[in-house]
Amino acid sequence: MAVTRGEFSSRFGFVMAASGSAVGLGNIWGFPTQAASNGGAAFLLVYLILAFTLAYPALMAELIIGRHAHANAVSALRLVSPNRLIGNIGALAGIAGLIVASLILSFYAIVAGWMIAFFLSSIADLLGMEKLSLWLVSFSTWRNLLFMLIFMTLNIGVISAGVQGGIERWSARLMPVLLTTLALLVVYVLTLDGAMEGLRVYLLPDFSQILSPRLIINALGSAFFSLSLGVGTMLIYGSYIKDEENLPLVGGMVTVLDILIAVLAGFLVLPAMYVALHSGVEIFTESGSLISEDTLIFTVLPELFATMGITGIIVSLTFFFLMSIAAVTSSISMLEVPVAYAIEEHGIDRKLTTVAVGCTIAAISACILLNFDSLFGAVITLTTRYSQPLLGFVFCIYAGWVWRRDLLLQELRKGNPDISEGLFWKIWPWYVKLVCPVIILAIFAQSIWG
Ligand code: PFF
Repeated sequence: MAVTRGEFSSRFGFVMAASGSAVGLGNIWGFPTQAASNGGAAFLLVYLILAFTLAYPALMAELIIGRHAHANAVSALRLVSPNRLIGNIGALAGIAGLIVASLILSFYAIVAGWMIAFFLSSIADLLGMEKLSLWLVSFSTWRNLLFMLIFMTLNIGVISAGVQGGIERWSARLMPVLLTTLALLVVYVLTLDGAMEGLRVYLLPDFSQILSPRLIINALGSAFFSLSLGVGTMLIYGSYIKDEENLPLVGGMVTVLDILIAVLAGFLVLPAMYVALHSGVEIFTESGSLISEDTLIFTVLPELFATMGITGIIVSLTFFFLMSIAAVTSSISMLEVPVAYAIEEHGIDRKLTTVAVGCTIAAISACILLNFDSLFGAVITLTTRYSQPLLGFVFCIYAGWVWRRDLLLQELRKGNPDISEGLFWKIWPWYVKLVCPVIILAIFAQSIWG
């Protein structure tokens, strides 16, 4: 079906959009707390190794297939297949990817809604509107539904404006704001009493944990989630890159930016926790490990901000603003996956598709909210722990085994004519063919049966 496709206007536009997808709640919230409860710098080290040796090659698989096909994952996996059967299996994996991307968005939108509510609560505090502020931070179905809907509306607004007018424009605006805000918060928190203790926990490795299967599984899950792999997001962003672009280079830039921001967030969250401890806030669970997940963001940090008077309100406002931006740039990339599929496969108008898909995902979010205790955790585990690594495995198989090596090289040569003489071409093809699939499967098996 002839539909004019969008394209990123520049390298900067692509790097901002793809790193915007990668940098999200996973970096600023997930990574630091995982590091804190998995041996500090030991986790950081394993994370760095896995990010460069497994996540980067898997990211490249998605980017190269996407750019070659200039199409969504379903058509792209069909295109690189040698026959109908393998093409159909690929198409099924593409469809599974878009379902998983939609499910991730359905829980991400709930959490992102909380971030916006907490941000607005700080503004209400500044204006002296105590009752409203309290309502905004209290866990209620109405608040949750309202802010999930507000967040989904923002997403629909950006995605319906298309690749350049929506994704690229907003990522290029928001990502520099995100980096600046994060850096300012880090500098401020490091000046507070107790921060150095947090820094020590973050940077002193507990090597006794380094080979623990739990640590490795968590680090792999974090790296895959953080680079938005396995659901076709990076494939579809890759499909909007110009043919002249040097893919290994831009993929590398995205990986480095993603890791940098996760590491930088560690310099904010862990010191902040120990500043909280210093101010009398409880930061350990009954079993003695550090508080993480929702209690950290929605209890520990707000309690810390509350001890800081008016400065605390400003810091809180800045922090939840940062979290909201991180959430928006990531979730637009999730919404683009099913939207691009519907536009390209069924020729439906972008605006109409975006509204229809966005409303369907909002309805799924509402179901999760109304059955919160049984569904919320289950959807997160199903999508991020099992589906993402497995689908990442499939993309590696298609790049390494299914796609003809000469055609793959031809694709890479478009943006880098001498690529066959470089290190990337010497290592990546066998890496994505053998090493990535074996390690992903081994770690996956360990996470189920280990
Ligand atoms: N990378 C995002 C984060 O770290 O929060 C999460 C994510 C975005 C996962 C897009 C999957 C996806 F398709």
